Amino acid sequence: MILPTRLRKNKNIRRLVRETHLSMDDVIYPIFVVDGEGIRREIPSMKGQYHYSLDKLDGVAAMLRDKGIGHIMLFGVPAEKDAEASPAFADDGIIQRAARRLKALDPELYIVGDVCLCEYKSDGHCCFFEENGDIRRDRSLETLCKVAVSQARSGIDMIAPSDMMDGHIAALRTALDDAGFESVPIMGYSAKFASTFYGPFRDAADSAPAFGDRRSYQMDPANGKEALKEVALDVEEGADIVMVKPAMPYLDVISQAKELSYLPMAAYQVSGEYAMIRTAVDQRLLDERAIFESLLCIKRAGAEIIITYFAPQLQALIDAYQD
Ligand code: PBG
Repeated sequence: MILPTRLRKNKNIRRLVRETHLSMDDVIYPIFVVDGEGIRREIPSMKGQYHYSLDKLDGVAAMLRDKGIGHIMLFGVPAEKDAEASPAFADDGIIQRAARRLKALDPELYIVGDVCLCEYKSDGHCCFFEENGDIRRDRSLETLCKVAVSQARSGIDMIAPSDMMDGHIAALRTALDDAGFESVPIMGYSAKFASTFYGPFRDAADSAPAFGDRRSYQMDPANGKEALKEVALDVEEGADIVMVKPAMPYLDVISQAKELSYLPMAAYQVSGEYAMIRTAVDQRLLDERAIFESLLCIKRAGAEIIITYFAPQLQALIDAYQD
């Protein structure tokens, strides 16, 4: 008789046949840095996540070491935004200063920079528009290139453009190469959907659009094939890593995109996914094992890299549940 349960009989045999394992090398931890002083403030929409001012980064570096986190992604929340998004590409911008500070505290820390305009631009959009509302691609790309180069100059190890402008990977690759940053990889937010699950992040980053929404540049959640087109384009344009975002409602996209290229696949378990699971665990509607399961399943679907706000807990979860 064929009895699949034979291979589930005890811990030993389950360990032998287990297909997916989580490790701290799988995750990137997003961190929000803000202007100001003495700030370590919990983000109301994302319990357990904090806004840090630059003078608090020594504590962050110590926490990262303590939790075994080797990879982070930086988001900046500047005090002032402007119509040009200039705080995004200022050499003394919030991300640029944070990167220098963190590298001084821990030269081994691998820092990914989120490249976008929405946190720095008065209207909260990721790009510039023509008067008639069309995307102004040339100006948007030009500005994004300035952001990427200035981040690389500040010591950021990898660039992750989340703006969803057509042709941005090719433009950023050329800009980085021309500025002498050939060795800085690009992780494209290749299939980034116009998702409601970004809600808590927009509070955290103060980046909700002042008018309209992002549906003229981010993808329609209804479309799977189109996500593959986006991934294929990023591969062609020279991305080093491709990403699907959000993660959990888009596991089908992750697994199909995985088949499409030899590049490492990343998935972003976004703020809404975090808030949902965090709240359910805090209210004891779910056991904390749900956090482990959520990450395990994103990896099983095909993501070798997971960007997750749960990174600080992951080692403890692995110790408890990868049994
Ligand atoms: C910036 C950006 C967003 C996220 C990452 N980069 C917000 C958005 O596109 O509105 C979302 C991250 C999250 O929800 O955790 N464009």
